[in-house]
Amino acid sequence: MTGAVPRLPADLTRLEQLAEQRLGPGPVGYVAGSAGNGSTERANRAALDAHRIVPRMLRDVSSRDLRTELFGRNLPAPLALAPVGVLSIMHPDAEPAAARAAAGEGVPFVLSSASSTPMEQVAEAMGDGERWFQLYWAKDREVTRSFLTRAKASGFTALFVTLDTPLLAWRPRDLDQAYLPFLHGVGTANYFTDPAFLAGLAKPVHEDPNAAVLHFVGMFADPGKTWPDLAFLRENWDGPIVLKGILHPDDARLAAEAGMDGVVVSNHGGRQVNGSIGAAEALPAVAAAVGDRLTVLFDSGIRTGDDVFKALALGADAVLLGRPYAYGLGLDGQAGVTHVIRSLLAEFDLTLALSGHRTPGALDASALAG
Ligand code: FNR
Repeated sequence: MTGAVPRLPADLTRLEQLAEQRLGPGPVGYVAGSAGNGSTERANRAALDAHRIVPRMLRDVSSRDLRTELFGRNLPAPLALAPVGVLSIMHPDAEPAAARAAAGEGVPFVLSSASSTPMEQVAEAMGDGERWFQLYWAKDREVTRSFLTRAKASGFTALFVTLDTPLLAWRPRDLDQAYLPFLHGVGTANYFTDPAFLAGLAKPVHEDPNAAVLHFVGMFADPGKTWPDLAFLRENWDGPIVLKGILHPDDARLAAEAGMDGVVVSNHGGRQVNGSIGAAEALPAVAAAVGDRLTVLFDSGIRTGDDVFKALALGADAVLLGRPYAYGLGLDGQAGVTHVIRSLLAEFDLTLALSGHRTPGALDASALAG
């Protein structure tokens, strides 16, 4: 029977379990895995769960409006899909399917540098859907320049520079399964079609794939970068630049001083510094430091509509959704991602209304206990 029966659960926290049953431990291990013993991933949940909404009554919530302006764009809701690399591990339709689902809902899609599909193809799949490009800031300036040029030409409007990944962390689940997607060479189509990347190879990819993968690993990020290096990106990107992976208010201030447009308060879903602060713990101080100057986005732990509510109440302008949409993609392709976006936003809308608020902009710390 089809039709009225939903194919995926309305409770998005059940997606991981379902994905494990249907897709097996390999793909799910890639998405679910985190750094170390998972303490930061747990801290992300604990930090959100520690806050409690205090609903207000009799405030006429008959009409709500989730619309949100970010970087000069009018968006239907304070939500974008986070960059998640190598989505072909989850579903053969990969990034184009997720991006189409986002575009269908008017939700921006942040495309990972480590996309398994070249960025031009993702752009084509999205039509005029809002798209942002996430940069892994390569050691090789020519490759970075080439990525920025390609992204601009493909209609990506904002640049998200991920700073928390100058090296890949100790990720036991990947290591135990020998499932490092990059080393398997499947994560690199975006690089393997890049003229500047290809120019750095002694032999064509098909003649020496292992050398190509090693070249990729050696240059995909650069632990030597410092704040003044941002000037290079500012010179080569004329749209908004957002720094992803900010947890300290002083780093947020440095971002503002460097002429950046926004930050993402994020610990990469607990995949980088195990033992670090839960992302929601970091949010109020960052928002207090730069909220009047920069757009403050949040990710790491968003699973439900009330999580979205809490992040906004703690000072975020909008949130990025990560793992849940990757599971939705794995379970049901484009339709699965659409289900995840719609469910999350419907639950957020209801939480807003039932708590006595009509717009995301109305939320602040007074909506929470303590
Ligand atoms: C990520 N994330 C990520 N971030 C980024 O800037 N570039 C990337 O390529 C990836 N790739 C990636 C793969 C997978 C499988 C995951 C789970 C995450 C981090 C992502 O953008 C976001 O910060 C986290 O997913 C947020 O944590 P939760 O809410 O998904 O737990």
